[in-house]
Amino acid sequence: MQDKPTPPRHIAIIMDGNGRWAKGRGLPRTVGHKAGAENFRKIATYCKNIGVKYLTVYAFSTENWKRSEVEVSAIMTLLKRYLLEAVDSMERDRIRLHFFGDMTPISPELRALARETDGISGRLAADDFQANVCLNYGGRDELLRAARRFAADCAAGRRYPNELDETLFSSYLDSAGIPDPELIIRPGGEQRLSNFLLWQCAYAELYVTDTLWPDFGERELDQAIAAFQRRDRRFGGVKESET
Ligand code: FPP
Repeated sequence: MQDKPTPPRHIAIIMDGNGRWAKGRGLPRTVGHKAGAENFRKIATYCKNIGVKYLTVYAFSTENWKRSEVEVSAIMTLLKRYLLEAVDSMERDRIRLHFFGDMTPISPELRALARETDGISGRLAADDFQANVCLNYGGRDELLRAARRFAADCAAGRRYPNELDETLFSSYLDSAGIPDPELIIRPGGEQRLSNFLLWQCAYAELYVTDTLWPDFGERELDQAIAAFQRRDRRFGGVKESET
């Protein structure tokens, strides 16, 4: 039997299609999010087992507040439930958790839980698997927050505008210290980034599938990784044979 090829170090997923998945079954959208959250648990465990180092998922965008109160509250409850479970299991399963996004408008209870999981992550080894959950996250908002912090450091004399380069700017992002995702997966069929990881996706390979997120299983992740392995990644250069 052939060994599976080495997976990307960092995979990012736009968990889309929960609403349609539920609608197709005559169920409320919130049931789709519940199924989506369960699938996140499964896929995160699978990523860890096959040697992916980072998994970043889009759980709630800066635009998702436009949804009904019932739907927003259902997603927040699912996140709370996940964090409560994580507090008990992260150390045993060696899973680090990190949040991307502006946590200011998130409930104090969820923020306290996020601080708790941050503390546990800090006690785990740097090379343990890490799941990044994007919560109240938008790529443009992340860039603005980073720019504001850099400007504040300049105003305080800690930094100088001329020293700003890509590496320094990256250190102001929510993803500071985390390598860019090599593969971005979008279930649900839409062919857009929807304000996800705008800086970090510069050279990411995109994989779009019509499969709805709750149905996106291990086999399809294998297929996405296999498709990624077949891509010719040139990073703006040309192949050696073409020079
Ligand atoms: C997009 O599908 C999905 C969301 C906006 C929410 C995703 C949130 C979860 C899966 C719960 C998060 C929980 C954890 C534990 C990470 P959609 O509702 O836009 O689907 P549609 O396009 O079919 O309407």
